[in-house]
Amino acid sequence: MLHLEDFPKPTPAADEVLVKVYASGVNPIDWKIRAGLRKEKFPTSFPLILGWDVSGVIEEMGNAVTNFKNGDEVYGRPDVTKNGTYAEYVAVKANQLAIKPKSIDHIKAAAVPLAGLTAWQGLFDHGKLEKGQKVLIQAGSGGVGSYAVQLAKWKGAYVIATASEKSTELVKQLGADEVIDYKKEKFEDKVKEADLVLDLIGGDTQKRSLQVLKSGGRLITTLKAEYTDKAKERNIHLEAYTAQSYPEQLEKMATLIDKGIVKPVIAEVLPLEKAAEAQKKSEDGHIVGKIVLQVV
Ligand SMILES: NC(=O)c1ccc[n+]([C@@H]2O[C@H](COP(=O)([O-])OP(=O)(O)OC[C@H]3O[C@@H](n4cnc5c(N)ncnc54)[C@H](OP(=O)(O)O)[C@@H]3O)[C@@H](O)[C@H]2O)c1
Repeated sequence: MLHLEDFPKPTPAADEVLVKVYASGVNPIDWKIRAGLRKEKFPTSFPLILGWDVSGVIEEMGNAVTNFKNGDEVYGRPDVTKNGTYAEYVAVKANQLAIKPKSIDHIKAAAVPLAGLTAWQGLFDHGKLEKGQKVLIQAGSGGVGSYAVQLAKWKGAYVIATASEKSTELVKQLGADEVIDYKKEKFEDKVKEADLVLDLIGGDTQKRSLQVLKSGGRLITTLKAEYTDKAKERNIHLEAYTAQSYPEQLEKMATLIDKGIVKPVIAEVLPLEKAAEAQKKSEDGHIVGKIVLQVV
């Protein structure tokens, strides 16, 4: 059960900073951890403060931290196994943070780290996406997908995304060359010879995605890699990954945001007190962009 409670202000360890939280992003991992669904990957114990997306201001520094100063406005994705960001304060390792984009407020900045890093790493670190290649993004309207469409376009790829009718226009505006309404059409009938599929759905969508890739293509998933044998048969590289907190990628995202190339898509802003409502909406699986909890 998720509820509000008074909790002592955390004390930063030597390699941590204390961040006064202005806003916290909401991600599916939050409710999955609450529901005990990711114990093997993220060993956590309860009670636990959920939320692993922060934008805020540094208020205290651990004595080994040299790369920030008090008052710095930072954003990042803290360690998922520790107390998170649905809070007024969070202690975060300094090497998991970057200076937040200057052109956007804390609400928008809190919508970036987890989903943005996941999109970046899925496309570029694991997907090896290059200019001129064809990529299919499964769920281009969600938290991760909305960044993936923009980043793939920026890279110079030909971008195809699945979305339902309500989000088609938005996903086109984000840069998709083609949007396939997954409720009305079969993407495997429309896409051929793709270099990369970024799978943010899993299950049957992952299985059918094998059909759209060319031999030697890559199927990169944020969920479980379920069809390894079938992928091998078709000479497709199928790989699941867990996004990591790399500050240099947050810095690159901040630059793209400040240049107006990437924009966070905000579905809804709720006060911290409504965290349970935010999680219910995330769990329903039909958010367009990101939900953010406003703390200050
Ligand atoms: N491994 C990792 O490190 C990592 C990191 C981040 C996220 N994830 C996982 O990746 C998944 C995606 O995360 P997210 O934050 O992007 O989720 P999200 O924001 O909750 O995604 C919601 C979006 O998915 C769309 N959607 C639902 N079913 C679809 C389908 N069959 N085809 C196409 N679009 C569909 C919805 O559109 P409609 O409303 O139109 O249906 C909605 O816009 C989650 O399972 C999450 O837990 C893993």
